[in-house]
Amino acid sequence: MFKQSTVHLFDLIIQDDEKVTLDEVVLDDANRKTVEQLILEHRFIDEIHKHGLPANNKILLYGSSGCGKTMTAKAIAQALGKKILILNLSNIVSARIGETSQHLKQVFDKAARDKAVLFLDEFDQIGKARGSDDKDVGEMRRLVNTLIQLIDYFPENALLLCATNHPEIVDIALMRRFQLRIEYQKPSQETLNAYYDELQERFPTHLQSFERIYEVSFAEAKDHALTQIKAALINQLLKEQNA
Ligand SMILES: Nc1ncnc2c1ncn2[C@@H]1O[C@H](COP(=O)(O)OP(=O)(O)OP(=O)(O)O)[C@@H](O)[C@H]1O
Ligand SMILES: [Mg+2]
Repeated sequence: MFKQSTVHLFDLIIQDDEKVTLDEVVLDDANRKTVEQLILEHRFIDEIHKHGLPANNKILLYGSSGCGKTMTAKAIAQALGKKILILNLSNIVSARIGETSQHLKQVFDKAARDKAVLFLDEFDQIGKARGSDDKDVGEMRRLVNTLIQLIDYFPENALLLCATNHPEIVDIALMRRFQLRIEYQKPSQETLNAYYDELQERFPTHLQSFERIYEVSFAEAKDHALTQIKAALINQLLKEQNA
């Protein structure tokens, strides 16, 4: 007899230690200002509390894919010297997790204990899944209610960052919980040109020429450029080999 194994929410947490600094993230002026103030509020949190002021710690990052949401979360954690716990909510919804609400509570507790950055990715999945086949409506409703409570009681010395490409389908009650909402848009031609310029500089001159594409995310632009740079490099290596 085999006991059916259950997925535990802790197995779904990613501890990603990739170092990202805020300087590396291209942000428009308004977003940069918001993120910088957020970081400073946490750096000076004791003084802020002494004056009876609250620190913002519940932030929604929303908008285009590949435009810096995950990167920003990592940069904030790094700037504050905090651990980042990444949890993708679509995994919660698709995995057959026993006692999901309880496990979600454990994750929030861990983030609170560690004064960490808790990053909930694909945040829209939590509301969207209501009424799906795997989870009944009641179970999903309970999960949303649990999440609302966890958010309300999340301590100010930890940060909750939630990301979504589909803010329009996020539960209204959840949406109200965020003190800051930061929008990510596809970069303009000018912004992409600056991004390409900087990318180019990292390589020797003979590898610097690549076709620039526009109307794409930073992630797509970077992939496209790096693929061409690699092709040029391989070409050169093959030539040397055959010489
Ligand atoms: N604003 C940005 N500045 C600099 N590089 C960026 C930016 N946005 C994206 N990139 C590049 O693209 C990669 C993917 O970006 P990121 O994971 O932050 O996107 P995302 O907004 O979280 O996308 P998704 O919604 O698909 O999760 C980054 O690792 C980085 O190389
Ligand atoms: Mg992301």
